[in-house]
This record gives sequence, C-alpha cells and structure tokens, in this order.
Amino acid sequence: MSTPPPALRLKELRDLVRHHEERYYIHNAPEISDEEFDRLLHELEAIEAEYPDLVTADSPTQRVAGRPIQGFPTVEHLVPMLSLDNAYTDAELRAFDERVRKAAGLDVAAVSYVAELKIDGLSIALTYDDSRLVRGATRGDGVRGEDVTANVRTIRAIPLALRCGPPGRIEVRGEVYLPRASFARMNRDRETAGETLFQNPRNAAAGTMRNLDPALVSKRGLGSYLYQLVARPRSRPAAERSVGPAEDPFAPTHSETLRALASWGLPVEPHWKRCEGISQVAEFCQEWAEKRLALDFDTDGVVIKVDDLALRTRLGATAKFPRWATAFKFPAQQAHTRLRRIDVNVGRTGANTPFAVLEPVFVAGSTISMATLHNADDIARKDIREGDTVVIEKAGDVIPKVVAPVLNLRPPDSQPWKMPDTCKVCGSRLHRDEEEVVWRCENSSCPARLRRSLEHFASRSAMNIEGLGESLVDQLIEQGLVHDFADLYHLDASRLEDLVVAPRDPKSDRALPRKLGKVGRNVVEQIARSRNNDLSRLIYGLGIRHVGEKAAATLARHFRTLDRLMDASFEQLQTAPEVGPVVAESVRAFSDEPRNRALVDKLKAAGVTTTTSLPEPAAVDAGPLAGKTFVLTGTLPSMTREEATSSLEQLGAKVAGSVSRKTHYVVAGSDAGSKLDKARQLGVDVLDEEAFRSLIMKAHG
Ligand code: IVH
Repeated sequence: MSTPPPALRLKELRDLVRHHEERYYIHNAPEISDEEFDRLLHELEAIEAEYPDLVTADSPTQRVAGRPIQGFPTVEHLVPMLSLDNAYTDAELRAFDERVRKAAGLDVAAVSYVAELKIDGLSIALTYDDSRLVRGATRGDGVRGEDVTANVRTIRAIPLALRCGPPGRIEVRGEVYLPRASFARMNRDRETAGETLFQNPRNAAAGTMRNLDPALVSKRGLGSYLYQLVARPRSRPAAERSVGPAEDPFAPTHSETLRALASWGLPVEPHWKRCEGISQVAEFCQEWAEKRLALDFDTDGVVIKVDDLALRTRLGATAKFPRWATAFKFPAQQAHTRLRRIDVNVGRTGANTPFAVLEPVFVAGSTISMATLHNADDIARKDIREGDTVVIEKAGDVIPKVVAPVLNLRPPDSQPWKMPDTCKVCGSRLHRDEEEVVWRCENSSCPARLRRSLEHFASRSAMNIEGLGESLVDQLIEQGLVHDFADLYHLDASRLEDLVVAPRDPKSDRALPRKLGKVGRNVVEQIARSRNNDLSRLIYGLGIRHVGEKAAATLARHFRTLDRLMDASFEQLQTAPEVGPVVAESVRAFSDEPRNRALVDKLKAAGVTTTTSLPEPAAVDAGPLAGKTFVLTGTLPSMTREEATSSLEQLGAKVAGSVSRKTHYVVAGSDAGSKLDKARQLGVDVLDEEAFRSLIMKAHG
C-alpha cells in the first residue's frame, strides 16, 4: 500500500479528529478510546511539524495559540444582542402567549413554539466566514462585546471549521458554560491551592472566558450550546439591518434552523421541543423543573420562542427584548429547616470556616444536611443563630447556602453566634488579618492543616501520588506514621498493606473499613516515584499561600533550585516574571519559618528532587504599567483577585497589600472595606471592574 501524500492524509486526519471531537464533546458518545484519539492527534501533529506550511488555522491542533492574550479589544455586534423578558408563573406564560397572538393578529388557537433549556452560562457570538471560525465575542453591553476569539478556539465543542456550512459570513449565537463536573473539579483544585472559590458555574465560566491565558482556558473544560443564527449582513442592506428583525432566515422556522446548525457540526442542546400551543410549553417547563437536576450543566429556566420566523418578523422587538420569546424561570430551590448548630471546618491554610449543620431537608432532588455560611461577618450581618429556622437555597443548585433566619420562629432564649477564639482542632488562638474576613489557625502542625496539606501535596497537580486519598491520609496521621510530607518517603510497604482504612460509601455515606492490601504497596511505589518530580510540582505541593500551579512553575523556572528560591530576598523574588509583593511576601514568610526549613532539609535527605528541568523564562519587558502600584480590595463581579493580580503583573504593575501615598490606583469591588476609605482619604484614584478592565485594555495598546 502506498503512503498517501501528506496533504491528503492531513485532511483525512483533521476530518477524523473533528469527527471524534464532535462525538465526544457534543454528542457525549465517543466511538473510539481516548488512546486511539490521542494517536490520531499525535499523527496529525507529527505531519504538521514536518510540513509547517500545511498548517491551517482551523486545524484541530491549533486550538491554543500558546501566548497569553494582551487584553481584549472591544468589538461591535452586527445586530445588538438582546436580552429576554421573564415569566415566573403559569399565568405569566399564558399572558405571553396572549400577547403573541394579539400582536400578530392571529386568530388561531395554538401558536407553534420551540421550548429550549435556558443554559446558565454566558452568551457568545461566533462568526464564521466561509465556514471558518474567525471571531468569538462576548455579549458585553449588548452593543459592544469583547473579542475573546483565542479563548473560544480552545472550546472543543466549538468547531474551528463547519462540516458543511453555508458560504459567506454567518453569525451564530449561544452560550458558553462550565459543566458541573468541571466546576467541582476546578473549585477543588482552587481550594487545595488556597485560592478563592467560584460561587457557581456561571461565574466560573465568565471568569474563565475573560482569562487572558488561552492555555489555562483550554484546561477548564468549558462547553457550549448554540441556538441562534442571527445575521447574514452581506446579503442585506445596512439600513434594513438596523431596523429589521435580528434574524435573516436560512430556513422558514426556528426548529429547522436548529437542525441546520447541528448538521453543520455545531453543538445544539438536544432536549429542545417543538410545542403546539402554550399548554404543551407549560408541560415542558414543569417536566424540566425536576429533570434538569440530572443534567451535567446548570439551567435556570426554559426559553420559549415562536417557531415561525416570518411571524417573528411581524412581532419585532422592544429596545430590550424580542416580543417573540420569553424566559420561564424555574422557581428558586428553597426550603425551611432548623439550624441545629454552627460548626467550623479547618482548611489547609488554617482557615476556620463556619458551616451550618441542618435538620435534613429535601431540596431540588437531594437531601441537605449541611450548608455554607460564608464567614463570621456574614453570620453576624444576617444575625443567623443556632436553633433558628432558616431559609436555605441551592445556589446554582450545587452548593446549598443559608439565606436568612425566619425571625418570627426564633426561640426566645436564642443568642447571637460568636466565632470561637481558638482553632476547633488544635486549640491555638485564631488570627485574622486586617481586611480579611477569614479567621486562621497559624499553627502549622495543626492536625487538620496537616491532613489537608498532605492531600494537597499528593494531589494531581502537585506531587501526583495516586491512591493517597482522604481516608488513607487520615489513618497515616491517626496512627502517627506521618507528621509531615517528608515522612511519606519513609513509609514501609508491608506496614501499609496491613493498615485498615475506612473510606465512605457515597451511597449510604457509611464508612467501609478494609485492609489496604496491595493498594498499600502501590501507594508506596507512587510515593517513591514522586521523588523524581520536577521542582515546580514540589513548590506547588508545599502549599505556600498564594502560590498556585502557575506561580510555582514561574518560581521554579526563575530560581532553578529550592535553596535559591528560599534564600531569595523579597526584592529578588519580585524579579521573577509575574511575581508581585503578595507572592513574594508569602514565599519569604514560608522560608523564614524554621520548621519549614527543617522540612525542606528532611525532604532533600529523603531524596526528593529540588531542581528543575524546565527551560529558563524568556526576558520580559518592563511592561506598560511598570512603576504603577495597585491595591485590590473587595470582590470584583467577574474576576478573582488572583486573575486581576496576574493581569496587572503581566503588564509590569505591582500589586500591593495596603494603600499609601505611593498607591496609584485602588481597584474596588463589592464589600470593599477600610482600603477604600483610605484611598478616598488620600485622594487615590478608585476603579470599579469596568474602569479597571478598560485601563488594562488601554495598557495593552
Ligand atoms: S435566546 C434575543 N435561548 O439567556 C435573545 N437565550 O436572559 C436571544 N440563554 O442573553 C436569546 N439559554 O445568553 C436564548 N436557549 C436559549 C438560551 C438563552 C441561555 C441566555 C442568553 C440571553 C439570556 C437572557
């Protein structure tokens, strides 16, 4: 058999990879194993490496551009991206139907609608030119959005080239979302890294899409569903576009459009239904109010759309909403129950976080017996007390939270709750930094901290020690076999084989004691193997506050050995790219602690690698914001503190912890505290998130 010419094989491979991406990411029905898929992708990469001239922008290998984006330019939408009117009750749904029929002058009993799940993500507009993806933009204010093409390209459900799209330019709109499983994984990783958690998948998706590093975006596992084909401007005069309907039909009905989108290889949420009349729509809404809990993405309602596109044109739109659609919002998933007590959980960083222990109650498909209470300040503000009847809610239907106490049901002898002064586990005094809401245990040998720290040390992104899970870690600590990370490297395989662990059965939530057996030997092998890990993994695994995976890699690349990193001064630390005072101070604090020095010596003596083989970082320019100092305070609506810090540091700015006369800008989110007051007092410029974003964008030129 003769070898096919490279161009032919390339085309074949690209088609195959795209086909299997579609099976996996859109239809959730893979036809080949991950290994076989990787083999195809590697073959494609190998040919492209050999023939770089044959690489095209729509090749599946070109999803991540590699370089971080320099801010997001704004782009104007061809047709404004409207929002939707809402209906909360059956009566409101019927009123919508009445309006549709009246406005259209229809004398028919039943209008045909399409009911679709309302995906709780962020809206996106994709432009395809002759079937090639050329742009992805966020909704922004509806008229202008941000050009997030590089990030959109990393979403595997979104084809870089349409299978058989129409010629010319089309714009397809829909939603980018974060599947629940990816959200849970991401927050778990953030928790182990001591980073702030995202509140729900929507915020996480929005934060991710606005991250300036496409490589990071590609890792988060975003998904997408598209539901609208909006414009075909070349074929329509501009004047008509500005007043006409936001739709240029390819097909006479919306249902046919959805089918066309799917046939071009675009992801379309498959549960949509054509309904004859509003009663069928109401049934669909009822059905999904329950069934939605089994989906792998969040949906907060049903979008109801007139199916006939000509009728849509007749109905038109108000300035804000189309008259041909409405969103039926599912009722909030709330319940009342009794707050038995407020307990405290101790995290890896020593954070003592209060949570609610509830009388079990059934809400939105599952029984809830615990809920978050955020922090002591929040409890005081809402005056939530033990013994109260409380309203609980499933926020984004994932993490239940206590909304408020029901005051008229409060027992007469109840007392305001007070945060304990001492750590729940080891009894050390708790501290809290000015400006922080979190109370921390500072005792680094606190068993609760040790337990979480070991889990973090062993985690996939750190030392990657498979099998060293929660229950084994518990046993190792309880039996006095491990007092710090270094002790892991002295564990005896036969001792571990006999160890009894008691993992929880997720179904019954009961502990199931069993001997570790062969697993124990495997874990010891895994631990031994981890000695050879790169320094970047070790730095991350040490769990230094504010040092996430990325900062750990940067520090390893810059300082080369753990000794050099630990000996670096506050100033020297900040010479590493993207390292500002927050990270520098944290690394210094870690290195100054004699206990940590001793730990590192012990790790070295156990043969753990403390050098890196990562390439040295390329020199970076001073950056357009060099010399400028920023202070961040409060919670920004759609970006975390780490993300804001990282964007600033990439541009050469410094991020400081407190406001002084030397501060150039204070970026203030909600609940900003004394730093904001101080900024006002000193006349320092204060930016909200929007002003901050535009400053960053300008700085990028
Ligand atoms: S249609 C003209 N369909 O909900 C408006 N929107 O609250 C076209 N959304 O901004 C929107 N799922 O981002 C439509 N199946 C769906 C949707 C959906 C989610 C979002 C969309 C919109 C927001 C309005």
